Amino acid sequence: MPIKRVGVVGSGIMGAGIAETVAVHGMEVVLRSRAQTTADGMVAGMEKSLARQVEKGKLDEADRDAAMGRVTAVSDLGELAGCDLVIESVVEDLGVKKHLFSELDRICPDETVLATNTSTLPVVEMAMETGRPEKVCGIHFFNPAPVMSLVEVVRPITASDETIATATSLAEACEKTPVVVKDQAGFIVNALLFPYLNNAVRLLENGVASRDDIDTAMKGGCGFPMGPLALLDLVGLDTSVAILDALYDEFRDPNYATVPLLRRMVAAELFGRKSGKGFYDYHR
Ligand SMILES: NC(=O)c1ccc[n+]([C@@H]2O[C@H](COP(=O)([O-])OP(=O)(O)OC[C@H]3O[C@@H](n4cnc5c(N)ncnc54)[C@H](O)[C@@H]3O)[C@@H](O)[C@H]2O)c1
Repeated sequence: MPIKRVGVVGSGIMGAGIAETVAVHGMEVVLRSRAQTTADGMVAGMEKSLARQVEKGKLDEADRDAAMGRVTAVSDLGELAGCDLVIESVVEDLGVKKHLFSELDRICPDETVLATNTSTLPVVEMAMETGRPEKVCGIHFFNPAPVMSLVEVVRPITASDETIATATSLAEACEKTPVVVKDQAGFIVNALLFPYLNNAVRLLENGVASRDDIDTAMKGGCGFPMGPLALLDLVGLDTSVAILDALYDEFRDPNYATVPLLRRMVAAELFGRKSGKGFYDYHR
């Protein structure tokens, strides 16, 4: 099924990035946040982000204007009724996502594909909240969505081949590289990445090395573009704890057991870049 209009639910880091990616690649986007002011703020953020790309010569002005013209910001979930595919990117909380899927199922026509951008949670449980489990899958973008080339297409046991083909073609239409993966916590990337990130915090907590030396070591020693503590700040420490908890719930592997320091930092609202402070200070 060709996708012409995409609904994006959630106005956080990922919702904004996915909406921008989809709009730049020629599809209409209906952006939904619970508050209209937040939805409008996302459009303003997108305008700034695209202006930077124009300045850098990566996008021409006509394409920027066309992309902005394809975006509508709404607060009423009912406005998503005209979308061919809806992707949710709200907080990593299974209860919140399940409730949202039951609402989307009520609002959207039977042929609409419903997708989640979850990092770890069981997609099948969201699918079973709907009357169309065969039309539900994961479409997992990476952060920042306009830049990162990978998309994991997550296949719950309930999904049809057609749904997976639709999700894969959306990723391709966004010039991403899709990989198809089973609906198992963490899929490919986070199942491998999060023990590493968690153990980096353990090294810091145990005083084995300083923050800067841990990040410098992994950049210089492994050729990674950023160190693990800077990456946790980019992902968001709250989201990271939710991801680790979901991985631990599924596998009971101690490498996935959230290191106490990480949980304490979330309790102190040190969420990383989005709150201005995490392992690093972004107020400066
Ligand atoms: N941060 C990353 O690097 C990353 C990468 C890939 C996927 N994801 C996934 O994307 C999703 C969103 O993550 P994010 O990093 O954008 O988070 P975020 O904290 O930046 O944004 C979360 C959004 O959820 C909304 N929200 C919170 N409670 C809600 C509720 N009860 N009902 C509806 N909306 C609610 C918030 O208003 C906000 O818009 C999560 O499922 C996460 O696992 C995150």
